[in-house]
Amino acid sequence: MDRKTIPLSRRACLQSLGGGAAALAAGTRLPAMMATQPAGGPPPTLDAAAAADQQRRMQWWHAARFGMFIHWGLYSVLGRHEWAMEMEGIPVAEYQQLATRFHPHPHAARAWARLARAAGQKYMVMTTKHHEGFCHWDTKLTNYCSAQQGPRRDLVREYVDAARAEGLRVGFYYSLMDWHHPDGARCATDEAARQRFVAYTHGLIRELMSNYGKIDVLWYDVHWPLTPEGWESEKMNRMVFDLQPDIIVNNRNGLPGDFSTPEQHIAAEKGGRAWESCMTMNDSWGYQRTDDDWKSAKTIARNLALCARDTGNYLLNIGPLPDGSIPEPSIEALTTVGQWLQRNGEAIYDTEPCQVNRSAFAGFTRRGNTLYVHCHFWPGSDFGIGGLRNRVKSARLLVGGRPLQFQQDDFRLHITGAPATAPDQPVTVLAIECDSEPTQDMPHIRKDRPRLGVGI
Ligand code: GLC
Repeated sequence: MDRKTIPLSRRACLQSLGGGAAALAAGTRLPAMMATQPAGGPPPTLDAAAAADQQRRMQWWHAARFGMFIHWGLYSVLGRHEWAMEMEGIPVAEYQQLATRFHPHPHAARAWARLARAAGQKYMVMTTKHHEGFCHWDTKLTNYCSAQQGPRRDLVREYVDAARAEGLRVGFYYSLMDWHHPDGARCATDEAARQRFVAYTHGLIRELMSNYGKIDVLWYDVHWPLTPEGWESEKMNRMVFDLQPDIIVNNRNGLPGDFSTPEQHIAAEKGGRAWESCMTMNDSWGYQRTDDDWKSAKTIARNLALCARDTGNYLLNIGPLPDGSIPEPSIEALTTVGQWLQRNGEAIYDTEPCQVNRSAFAGFTRRGNTLYVHCHFWPGSDFGIGGLRNRVKSARLLVGGRPLQFQQDDFRLHITGAPATAPDQPVTVLAIECDSEPTQDMPHIRKDRPRLGVGI
């Protein structure tokens, strides 16, 4: 939707609201990303103008489905997970020496962006500052940054340019929690420290939102040790939307934002709220040299379909080495998934909510009256899907379009004469055309199904 067609733009909406607290006091309803989430309660509803604006800003993201997360920092030099500093109790003075050993290849991000594109990912989200506090850009607010230490380059600039060169949307991860800054912990108990640290934090975010052109996603993380009030998160979001009217923000500065962020699991949000499941490819976000617990291309393709079934996004992480190169198992799996998406993308991108769910060998997505059956364990030449409530008009293999024979009764769609072995890898997709939106009954055991000698 064109921004001009919206009666009240976000900016106008925010300007008309003035201060969040004043608006609340006057009983005005704030846009969801502005309002503080009531403890344990559902996120507040958006008014019509804010909802329309949110829909406009999020359109590309919903269609995108698949993004690349990148965790990269001084911790990559250690190669023992991005939490090494805290987990191992490494003193700040010792940890910050890692900067002298952080010398990534020039333009390492180009290879990430090329891989993301080949993988069928439509956007990227890079750690601009993780919990360790090291800033990957040319900031005026600290010398603990890549422009003044280590590479002596603006790595955010290189990343932004690389993503744009491949036609990908640009996201910034930003950790509010900071283990390096002197006020990063004491801000919880010392008001002067809080004010300094909030000014610093808002200032860093302001730089990120001002100096790199249009940014598509701001991905906050960990708001320890302050509450959203302490961080002045409403003011923070107001500044962000003021500088970047088209941006979307997540929910990790303590406000609902535009989307939720289930981590390391896939779970749809209630009430149609947008969500993105973020996940590692092994067990670590940052580079962990000997973590060999890699997900296969099949697992990734399955997870992607699981997200798509409930119209969620999948943000899949790479943890580059300190020189910026990508671990080989990540390259292999992402390349395979990308090739699979080139053939089967119709069953993932821009699909609609799908109620059908039950199978021991397949996942499901839907577009209109077409049900896509994602067979991760190929069932062989003769198999069934139970409980479909619609009349099936046709069935075919998605790749190549070969028609499949079938019979249907009240309980079973029975497919026969399919290939004995999986025609596509790592997942074979079938397209089943129904006479209406495909649904499935969900009882665990179908009590009314005829049993031997009964009900026939
Ligand atoms: C957690 C971890 C962090 C990681 C993030 C990704 O919050 O603390 O290391 O960046 O998850 O979602």
